[in-house]
Amino acid sequence: MNKNYTIALLPGDGIGPEITAVTKTLLKAISKKHNFHLEFNELAFGGNAIELNGLPLPKETLEACKKSDAVLLAAIGNPKYDKLPREKRPESGLLQLRSDLQLFANIRPVKILPSLINESSLKPEIIKGVDLIVVRELTGGIYFGEPKGRFINNNEERAFNTMTYSKREVEEISKIAFDLAMQRKRKICSVDKANVLEVSQLWREQVECASKNYPDVELNHLYVDNAAMQLVRNPRQFDVIVTGNLFGDILSDEAAMLTGSIGMLPSASLSTSGPGLFEPVHGSAPDIAGQNQANPIAMVLSASMMLRVGLGEMQAAEDMEKAVDEVLGQGYRTKDLISESDKKLSTTAMGDKLLNAI
Ligand code: IPM
Ligand code: MN
Repeated sequence: MNKNYTIALLPGDGIGPEITAVTKTLLKAISKKHNFHLEFNELAFGGNAIELNGLPLPKETLEACKKSDAVLLAAIGNPKYDKLPREKRPESGLLQLRSDLQLFANIRPVKILPSLINESSLKPEIIKGVDLIVVRELTGGIYFGEPKGRFINNNEERAFNTMTYSKREVEEISKIAFDLAMQRKRKICSVDKANVLEVSQLWREQVECASKNYPDVELNHLYVDNAAMQLVRNPRQFDVIVTGNLFGDILSDEAAMLTGSIGMLPSASLSTSGPGLFEPVHGSAPDIAGQNQANPIAMVLSASMMLRVGLGEMQAAEDMEKAVDEVLGQGYRTKDLISESDKKLSTTAMGDKLLNAI
């Protein structure tokens, strides 16, 4: 009998529905070719869920995600919700989903495709051969630390958050990073701010401790400011970067731009058991929503990470990636990547090219 997987599909806001449509078509074609079946369960999440019932993560959506084999998300958010109380904003739904599914490990690969080497804002000789992974802790750190809040002190309003990690949290994310490094070039760079922050001192000690189980992996440490600089100075020095929630958020956007467009980068968020969440690193780009201009590739590559890491359908994942390489290799680009010699495509036209390549 053919395998059957349930996918919780969250099209989200902005360009989300457009890139979702492309990705869904490709996934259907791929599953047919490789003899498995994908059951898509399309759910409200983010701004569209707020419109429906006032909450970014409705209970039914959360329950359906928990029961699925994998969750595939496009993007959420819109400036029009900026004035809502923080817990009612689309972003809070995403944080709650990550937390409730215990998705503590966020994997963000950054690989330069030879065909895109000229699209980066950095010189080709700097980015040539870059192949790194940011492993970002996703359910702790300053994003979730308590206490937090706003209060009045001496007639002046103040606000604060807490950056906190337990040894266990650092140990768990370190294990993921070291295991990944073992399958790659066996190099880890841990990023912190241990020259200033207690939380980073503990982080550094615990990563050192974890490294004792991996004598073949070369470990070094960078302060986050230096890491930000090294990423644009000499990105080839990195293999696996492991870091906390906030530093990982910032560095992964920076690393994404090495590839020329944040519209290219996929990510996987994993727990120790239970479904993973697969989503592009980019946001919902409300400025170009509905214009059939968005680059669907980050979501397509997120879907391929889902096939590989979430469902174990390696062949299908490879096919999907090959299709992306092939179409980009032929010079086709969406607007975010365009340079003079390129053949410019809309979102749907890019989808058609990819479909033909499958
Ligand atoms: C990301 C995003 C989110 C984050 C936002 C939308 C909450 O920037 O996935 O990197 O900060 O984690
Ligand atoms: Mn981010």
